[in-house]
Amino acid sequence: MIRRLAICFAVALAAWANAARAEQDSSPDARADRLVRAMTLDEKIQYVHTKVGHRDPANPPPSGPNDDVGYIAPIPRLGLPALHIDDGSLGVANAWNARGGDEATALPSGLSLASSWDPALAFDAGAMAGDEARRKGFNVLLAGSVNLVRDPHDGRTYEYAGEDPLLAGIMVGENIRGIQSQRVVSTVKHFALNDWETGRWSLSGDIDEVALRESDLLAFQIAIERGEPGAVMCAYNKVNGVYSCENRFLLDRVLRHDWGYRGWVMSDWGAVHGMLSSVKAGLDQESGDGYDNEIYYGRPLEEAVKRGKVPMAQLDRMVRRILRSLFAVNALDDRSGTEPIDYAAHAATAERIAEQGIVLLKNDGELLPLGSDAASIAVIGSHADVGVLSGGGSSQVRPVGGPALIVPPADGSPKGAPQMVWEPSAPLAAIQRLAPRAHVEFADGYDAAKAADLAARSTIAIVFAHQWVSEGWDVPNLSLPDDQDRLIAAVAKANKHTIVVLETGGPVLMPWIDRVPAVVEAWFPGQRGGEAIARVLFGAAEPSGRLPVSFPRSEAQLPPSAQGAAFREGRARVVFSEGAAVGYRWYDKTGETPLFPFGWGLTYTSFAYSGLEIPRSAPRDAPLTAHVTLRNTGERMGTEIVQLYVTPPDPAGKAPRRLAAWSKVTLAPGEAKTVALTLDPHVLKNWDAHAQAWRTPAGEYRIHVGGSAEDDRLSAEATLR
Ligand code: GLC
Repeated sequence: MIRRLAICFAVALAAWANAARAEQDSSPDARADRLVRAMTLDEKIQYVHTKVGHRDPANPPPSGPNDDVGYIAPIPRLGLPALHIDDGSLGVANAWNARGGDEATALPSGLSLASSWDPALAFDAGAMAGDEARRKGFNVLLAGSVNLVRDPHDGRTYEYAGEDPLLAGIMVGENIRGIQSQRVVSTVKHFALNDWETGRWSLSGDIDEVALRESDLLAFQIAIERGEPGAVMCAYNKVNGVYSCENRFLLDRVLRHDWGYRGWVMSDWGAVHGMLSSVKAGLDQESGDGYDNEIYYGRPLEEAVKRGKVPMAQLDRMVRRILRSLFAVNALDDRSGTEPIDYAAHAATAERIAEQGIVLLKNDGELLPLGSDAASIAVIGSHADVGVLSGGGSSQVRPVGGPALIVPPADGSPKGAPQMVWEPSAPLAAIQRLAPRAHVEFADGYDAAKAADLAARSTIAIVFAHQWVSEGWDVPNLSLPDDQDRLIAAVAKANKHTIVVLETGGPVLMPWIDRVPAVVEAWFPGQRGGEAIARVLFGAAEPSGRLPVSFPRSEAQLPPSAQGAAFREGRARVVFSEGAAVGYRWYDKTGETPLFPFGWGLTYTSFAYSGLEIPRSAPRDAPLTAHVTLRNTGERMGTEIVQLYVTPPDPAGKAPRRLAAWSKVTLAPGEAKTVALTLDPHVLKNWDAHAQAWRTPAGEYRIHVGGSAEDDRLSAEATLR
């Protein structure tokens, strides 16, 4: 009997060992290893630089008339299909803004998604974009824009996820996870400190290491931990004087040694300034060969390998990282680019995001929600009769149905400035549909007197105001352009029931704020933004967004690095003297009160907080959870985003508060719920530059719980020992 058992065990063990070996053989690393070993030097060189805007008749780009932003030809001998790479963070951009082309679902801006404070929604947004990218034939989507909004003049503020490393890291990490769930590799970008646009190609962002680790790098670290992006895109700018794509501290010390990152590092398009310097620092792939002074990772690298100046093992490692990431996401298969896409379902996702991203900033006298019985409604400005605004640059998507309106750059715009695009989702029509009996009339707003006259004759006046921003440029100031402040003031004077709806890339100044009872921030709301705005204005959807960026009362409140943003050209560096005190942390440090704080947002109901409980004392580096009870004290269903901030111990008493946890809670009128808020351990740690390690300092931590960075509705202390 025992003998028979022993035989069975031996057979089972052998079967298990074979299966394990087979499994081992199919692991991304094993598959990549095998391929690299089979590749010729030419094939390896082919894999470490991508072509841009390729038109290779033998391998037409996916989805017809478009270019890839990045392309690698197939290697049939090894069964490797072509590699198609495209932007971007807000849907499948298809490089259309360079030339007319394919359409795709235009998602709301990154700030809109971040305003939902909803990681599950971030995943859904990514899954939608990833699904469209795969069906259009792409293997890589250049998404994951996670740079912190240090300076709201930054022309790419709209693409990012705000000023806080925890919120941005979690939201973008989940977005990356969603994209990759669809078998498309996502990037995380732009590594690092690409927190401005003017002069981004050459200026250096200067900051001390502790501050960098506890702010911008922390956002990347959290996004990479959560999303496991197949690739990191290194940025144009220098960090402390060294170009990001040849910055050993960033690409080797931080990314590989400290974070153990296993994916590949690709450059931004035109961000490579030397071959050896980049290879030695840890850049694995040069992107957009047409953008650099030469194709460094072509002939020069090949020669260097042949001469032994670059070990073959180094080149192998570069190629292996690319292949293993593609295999890990199962993204390396032949894609026709002609799979059908459920654009209706995707538009519904875009609308859901836009709705949850809308932030109700002000609502005096509960002017909102509007009743469908309003007799007459004036709709004014910002081309609200045709669509909603989107941001400029590589993330711009040609929306399904084509743009509603394209406005060429204004006279005097910088050379090459992209066009202003309105998505085909008209607020005017959406408002009329929700108020079918009302007389709804549009005025374009160019003539403030005419607009005021219409407002005077209407029950309600809704003024749409926009601030267009774009990659490549910073805005000269945070005022609404084209005299819109004067338009808003004139309409508000003519009708005391005036609502301002903002379609902006980021925070703007509001000199008229005391004369306007209701203000809604809709950001760039994407493919179904008009419908989303109307549904929130009429209460068909509850406003649940909260600000991921602070709105300053004046530009004087901003940190020194944000002063004079548009005049950076010609400077050598941007000195981020505020360090890790970004956004609300800067206001906490300076004692200034912004116009609208980080985390701010109203609803159509009200909430009461009670019963904050947190251990008075707890061991460091063990989970620390607070509990608080929330009650809906109003008449309508509503969603609160309960936020927990922590002020860490600091002998100098200067450490600003940090967002450590949040919970998004929807309650019916009268309903109460106790929520658990587990403080994120990243936020409790300080970087010890001497030890080159994270440390949780012992001492007393002050806990603040409320509805924004300025709302200490409940407080407590916890001592970590
Ligand atoms: C751009 C952007 C980057 C984009 C790339 C390809 O300059 O900085 O975000 O993915 O080039 O278009």
